[in-house]
Amino acid sequence: PQANIGVVGLAVMGSNLARNLASREGNTVAVFNRTAAKTDELVAEHPEAGFIATKSYQEFADRLSTPRTAIIMVQAGRGTDAVIDELVKVFEPGDIIVDGGNANFRDTIAREKRISETGIHFVGTGISGGEEGALNGPSIMPGGSDESWQTLGPIFRSIAAVAEGEPCVTHIGHDGAGHFVKMVHNGIEYADMQLIAEGYDLIRRGTGKSPAEIADVFDEWNRGELESYLIEITAQVLRQVDAATGKPLVDVILDQAGAKGTGAWTVQNALDLGVPVSGIAEAVFARSLSSKPGQRAVAQKVLPGPSDRWTIESPEDFIEDVRQALYASKVIAYSQGFDEIIAGAEEFGWDIDKGDIAKIWRGGCIIRARFLNRITDAYAADPDLTSLVTAPFFVDVVTAAQGPWRRVVSMAAHAGVPAPAFASSLAYYDGLRADRLPAALIQGQRDFFGAHTYKRVDKDGIFHTLWSGDRSEVESEGSSH
Ligand code: 6PG
Repeated sequence: PQANIGVVGLAVMGSNLARNLASREGNTVAVFNRTAAKTDELVAEHPEAGFIATKSYQEFADRLSTPRTAIIMVQAGRGTDAVIDELVKVFEPGDIIVDGGNANFRDTIAREKRISETGIHFVGTGISGGEEGALNGPSIMPGGSDESWQTLGPIFRSIAAVAEGEPCVTHIGHDGAGHFVKMVHNGIEYADMQLIAEGYDLIRRGTGKSPAEIADVFDEWNRGELESYLIEITAQVLRQVDAATGKPLVDVILDQAGAKGTGAWTVQNALDLGVPVSGIAEAVFARSLSSKPGQRAVAQKVLPGPSDRWTIESPEDFIEDVRQALYASKVIAYSQGFDEIIAGAEEFGWDIDKGDIAKIWRGGCIIRARFLNRITDAYAADPDLTSLVTAPFFVDVVTAAQGPWRRVVSMAAHAGVPAPAFASSLAYYDGLRADRLPAALIQGQRDFFGAHTYKRVDKDGIFHTLWSGDRSEVESEGSSH
């Protein structure tokens, strides 16, 4: 028999995705891995999948029906290019190569350009949901051409997670759009994780509750408006006891967070696009700070904290405050993430439906959460929404939360507990809603030292004050910058 789809790269994500594909009616899956032993192992362990094992790229191509469709699941970077080069040699015009790794969308754009010259379609596709998602249903974010979507749509729909009856996949936009949106998804994931971690830390230090007791708090939160995969797994991690020491596992894990780069990309691109994703940036920086043991060891010895004791009158009230602060800050992280998607779509010419993105994030992916429906609703009600947090539903959320949010941030500052994502989300909120910002002073400073000019509130034109002369104002030619 011929296979209708192939998977290259059989590490955990690749094998699980291949098994997911094979389990769906009508699919026959060809598999290939650089080290053939891996292929043999997978095929032997999963006879039910009916895999077609192949031992060379040529054999892989020969066993695929045309147009051939192959999904590459290898570590993003040079490995991807090596596989693409081999596939291009054995594939024909009209065939489709999908890159399902966490590629940089700029690489995806360049790869598509290069590969499209051969007549082969290249489709950069974000796949979220980790190992379990790959096996049972991920959230899928494909870019690429409309033509390749015709073939891929039904395949992706068959393996994607299902949320409220709808498969968590949509054609995001052309070329790098899928990987761009996956990148922002990961940025939001970083922010969400950091906010949860700050909440846990504040509750632990403020109330003295044990990790297992805080796990109960997260379980309870997971029954309300914060219901989400990350809250759910947080409770499980906090409840885990280390077999070797009998301590909570979270207390024996080294407190230095790793990162593979997608969070940093989200921030780098936001800087280029001029989009303030401050909550996401704080989350990335908090990981960087944690991973500087040398600096931290020195600072621990010499930098004092506040001298007053931290007293919390009602642990229950405090925990509820933290919950609200987390919810409001999370709304900000999504609002900022969607701003970046909107700016990216404009910059790179993608036609992205914001409501659809929220929809396909409802299931399968790491940031899946109950409140994503509200984002879809918000964009359905107003596709040109200038900022997600200003949609009526989210205005209500932050209005209700602002008191607790301010209390939590000021308590954290008083107590000397770092809460960078809570604090910066609140600062963003206050910045966005301010009727006057001190940016006016910055313009004055810029004009003073660099004659950078400014605009006025009361009339059109570009102005400059003769700071080193008689300090009169002159109207300037050209544009302000
Ligand atoms: C997902 C995850 C997944 C992965 C990333 C981020 O959506 O399934 O985002 O892609 O966990 O590699 O991991 P880091 O924390 O290592 O950057």
